[in-house]
Amino acid sequence: MKASYSPAPDRYGRPDFYRRCGRAGLKLPAVSLGLWHNFGGPDVTENARALIHRAFDLGITHFDLANNYGPPPGSAEENFGRILGRDLAPYRDELVISTKAGFHMWEGPYGEWGSRKYLLASLDQSLRRLNIDYVDIFYSHRFDPDTPIDETMGALAQAVRSGKALYAGLSNYGPSETAQALEILRSLGVSCLIHQPRYSLFDRRIEAGLLDVLGAAGVGCIAFSPLAQGLLTDKYLNGIPPGSRASANTDSLRPEHVTRERADQARRLGELAQARGQSLAQFALAWALRHPQMTSVVIGASSPGQIKENVAALEHASFTEDELRAIDAIVSR
Ligand SMILES: NC(=O)c1ccc[n+]([C@@H]2O[C@H](COP(=O)([O-])OP(=O)(O)OC[C@H]3O[C@@H](n4cnc5c(N)ncnc54)[C@H](OP(=O)(O)O)[C@@H]3O)[C@@H](O)[C@H]2O)c1
Repeated sequence: MKASYSPAPDRYGRPDFYRRCGRAGLKLPAVSLGLWHNFGGPDVTENARALIHRAFDLGITHFDLANNYGPPPGSAEENFGRILGRDLAPYRDELVISTKAGFHMWEGPYGEWGSRKYLLASLDQSLRRLNIDYVDIFYSHRFDPDTPIDETMGALAQAVRSGKALYAGLSNYGPSETAQALEILRSLGVSCLIHQPRYSLFDRRIEAGLLDVLGAAGVGCIAFSPLAQGLLTDKYLNGIPPGSRASANTDSLRPEHVTRERADQARRLGELAQARGQSLAQFALAWALRHPQMTSVVIGASSPGQIKENVAALEHASFTEDELRAIDAIVSR
């Protein structure tokens, strides 16, 4: 195992890489790194360490986790905690670490959804696995239709008041649920920092309401799966390559998601990207970041090279009206 790590001295060389999270004081890097895939298992791999190092060297200060990331669930937090302790502990104040609770985590009636019991116990478990005193952002990972929303928001507010989380966030809430949640949090004296929805050229649902709700409320937005788990790269243009996520027999991207229609759309988008001098991945990330409300995109990666390529999306971030029209003709809203 590589003995020691010193971050790149020029990692903050591009101040415009950091974008304000809605109206909050906190800024996030335009590209953040998520640990849903490639960080699970019983121990830290050299690749996991290399991914974190490359990200931080490139100025990525935000690392996104959830209680259940693995497999097995919890192991991504444990592995990140080990990497943090070993390599990044002196830089804790340069990092924004998020985690979430909402999906199934442990047996019995208190191991998922949105009760106060589950959220606060899960946050304590996450802090133990990460081996830190607080996370920067604690999310309700999904809306729970069977728990009063006041109870879920009360738990988020409590997490912030206790100092175990600096900010509260929502993920996978629809526009009206979000508006209600923001109002309740405000009444509790805790504002919501950010929403984390899925958004990419292949899933544009948030354009139909959620972005407006967030814009009006001054809440930030961080898009997850902005590359549609790899479909918006040149990886699947000619089938499913070995070693790719779709080949890995997980529930997240199954072979049947790699359809001929998606490959055709990706190929056509790739032609537009090429005309701008970008890879398809860079083009897809720049496009997701074009909204003023979009603070960051949270990407996944299996190699340090992918992170480097993706961060370079910012080198050509604006789109002409003609380009946007050509995109809309390929992927309708
Ligand atoms: N809140 C939620 O409910 C929720 C849900 C899902 C995800 N998330 C968050 O969002 C993060 C990102 O999700 P995601 O992993 O689905 O994001 P993504 O960025 O859409 O997909 C990442 C995958 O795309 C491929 N890729 C990335 N860059 C590439 C490049 N330059 N060239 C070729 N292939 C490239 C890699 O696949 P290979 O592994 O095949 O190389 C990588 O693992 C997660 O880690 C998590 O933090 C949140």
